[in-house]
This record gives sequence, structure tokens and C-alpha cells, in this order.
Amino acid sequence: MRIAVYPGSFDPITNGHLDIIERAAQLYDEVVVGVAENIRKSPLFSLKDRIRFAGNALAHLKNVRIESFNCLLVEFARRHDAHSIIKGLRAVSDFEHEFQMAQLNRKLDPSIETMFMMASPEYVYLSSSAVKEIAEYGGCLEGLVPPEVEEGLQKSFSR
Ligand code: PNS
Repeated sequence: MRIAVYPGSFDPITNGHLDIIERAAQLYDEVVVGVAENIRKSPLFSLKDRIRFAGNALAHLKNVRIESFNCLLVEFARRHDAHSIIKGLRAVSDFEHEFQMAQLNRKLDPSIETMFMMASPEYVYLSSSAVKEIAEYGGCLEGLVPPEVEEGLQKSFSR
């Protein structure tokens, strides 16, 4: 079995994440989406909501599972017998940070390979932070996030 993990905060999951996961699901027998608890990042959405949004948006992919994690990423990968970590790259600006994390993860466990997938052109500008900012100022989120996430964002910022 070729198993990969795709980690992130997913606060919230965007159509850019979904695009990478859908493409990865065609390359691997199983993709485990790892939702980081990330207590230090103080996310907008609770872990429960972030998992629910991802689960509902990915329910059509039978070889994709959603799990939370609160440990080193390599440990999470080992627990799921994964030998690949999938990361999406949008622009050169993503590279430096991702390069550093990939080297650190390789140092921590050389048996786990980080695989980079380029974002599809229509999503290179998209990030969870950007959609939160758009939602905060009442902008249009169509085509950027799944409808359930759009609703969640609107609710969060209408309080
Ligand atoms: O969506 P994000 O916030 O960019 O995801 C970051 C994430 C969760 C992938 C990263 O913070 C991570 O791997 N956390 C797990 C802790 C860990 O293993 N740290 C060492 C790797 S450098």
C-alpha cells in the first residue's frame, strides 16, 4: 500500500487544498489528511469544525481519511504507515519555509519523503488566511471554499 499524509491547519480547508488532495488520491492508495490541533496558532475554527469541513468536502473520495494530530508530523506519518508527506507549493514564497520543514522532517525520519505538488494555476493566490480576510470584510467567497465553509465563515464574522 502506498500511503501518504497531507498535513495542515485547514483553518479552514479551501478549494486549493481540495485540489491537491484530489490529485494526490489518484497517485496513492490512501491519503490521510492530518488536521493539526495547532494550539499555538489560535485557529478561527475549532478542531471539530475543521475536521467536519474537510470530511464533508472529501466524502466522495473513498481512499481519503481525515485524522487530527498533535505530535511531530513524522510521528503522525509513521502511525499511519505513510512514507510520503504531501505538500502543496503555490509560489516561490512558499518554498523557503517548506524546504526548511522538509529538511527537518528528513533529519527526524529519513525513511519519510516529502513530495511537493504544484498548486493548479486557478488556486495559486488562495490561502486560508486570505479567505478569512475576505470573509471578515464581506467579500465574495464563491469558488474559493466549499459551500459549508463559506457558511461557517459568514457565521463567524457576522457575530
Ligand atoms: O497549514 P499549516 O499551518 O501551514 O500546516 C503546518 C503543519 C501542521 C504542517 C506544521 O506545523 C507541522 O508539520 N506541524 C507538526 C509539528 C512538527 O512536526 N514540526 C516539525 C516539522 S518542521
